[in-house]
Amino acid sequence: MKIRRNYNLAKLNTFGISANARFFVELNKEVDLRELFNVPEFKNNQKLFLGGGSNVLFTKDFDGLVVLNKLKGIEILKEDSKSVVIRCMGGEIWHDLVIFATERGYWGIENLSFIPGTVGAAPMQNIGAYGAELANVLTNVEAYNLENGKENEKKIFNKEECELGYRDSIFKNRLKGKYFITAITITLSKIENKNITYKILQEYLEKNKIEVKNSKDISDAVTFIRKTKLPDPIIIGNAGSFFKNVFVELATLEKLQKTYPEIPHFNEEGIVKIPAGWFIEQCGWKGKRIENVGVHEKHALVLVNYGGATGKEILVLVNKIIADIKEKFDLELTPEVNLIS
Ligand code: EPU
Repeated sequence: MKIRRNYNLAKLNTFGISANARFFVELNKEVDLRELFNVPEFKNNQKLFLGGGSNVLFTKDFDGLVVLNKLKGIEILKEDSKSVVIRCMGGEIWHDLVIFATERGYWGIENLSFIPGTVGAAPMQNIGAYGAELANVLTNVEAYNLENGKENEKKIFNKEECELGYRDSIFKNRLKGKYFITAITITLSKIENKNITYKILQEYLEKNKIEVKNSKDISDAVTFIRKTKLPDPIIIGNAGSFFKNVFVELATLEKLQKTYPEIPHFNEEGIVKIPAGWFIEQCGWKGKRIENVGVHEKHALVLVNYGGATGKEILVLVNKIIADIKEKFDLELTPEVNLIS
């Protein structure tokens, strides 16, 4: 196990921010965790476990140990005529798991196609898109306790214990930084179970006269939509949606509708979701650029690094957007991306 010093993380975060980690190590095998837990660099420093780096913003150099999760492997644990249980290691690329599933005709994660990042990061924020979320298929999460000293134990969290919510889980809240996710287990359906009610997806399928015959048809459609709407981090640094959507009471929506009758909204069990992208666009931020940073021209929820930006520059933009929305709508925007300082 090779611990490196002053390791540049620019290629390991999709924002392409050039921050350094004081110590850095790659984890390729689960058994190597034992050794890692005992090295002084691990014991004496704050730790950050990194997957695809698609949901982090380094606001400065990281004064601790970054552990890159490269644990690989996808296996079918059991199956019957109706369903299949799949265990996937945390360092796998999320979309590779989607391909594994859709190529075999399994249903359940096709709407989550092409979400950047790794499998281990997926439960952290209960990834979701196009009317589906990980919570619909998750069975359990394997994670190591980072706080037990020598006794670091693996715990299996069942779905309820993960306390999944909208872009949220126990791993982002009460257990933040306390567990390292090594693998997840999901249960998928072998029986057709299509979910095409999300407006943008439905419209795309209708417009292109696509008749959904299998889960791959949906996966291809979602991949296409994402590719046209969201910038490719290889070309332009970004971390997908930077902010969470906004949930308000019905009364707040009704008040807003008096001034903005066309405000987009979705009712979810008595609570109303309003796309944060709409607020940002209303404040005139869509497509705006300030030197190296900006708001993407096709999607106001996506902040971009045009090249050479620092995490601080992005943070300044973030705070300006939050302040504008507070002033104009008296609502708080919350980042979805993890801010690392
Ligand atoms: N909208 C605007 N202006 C914009 C963008 C969006 O007004 O610039 C409004 C429009 O009314 C649009 C609505 O927002 O119809 C919804 O837009 P979209 O379908 O793109 O979804 P979203 O709510 O903005 C969420 C996820 C995305 C996910 C899409 C599709 C969050 C924070 N984001 O975005 O996730 O791909 O739904 O399901 O929930 C990500 O997490 O990185 C991500 C990209």
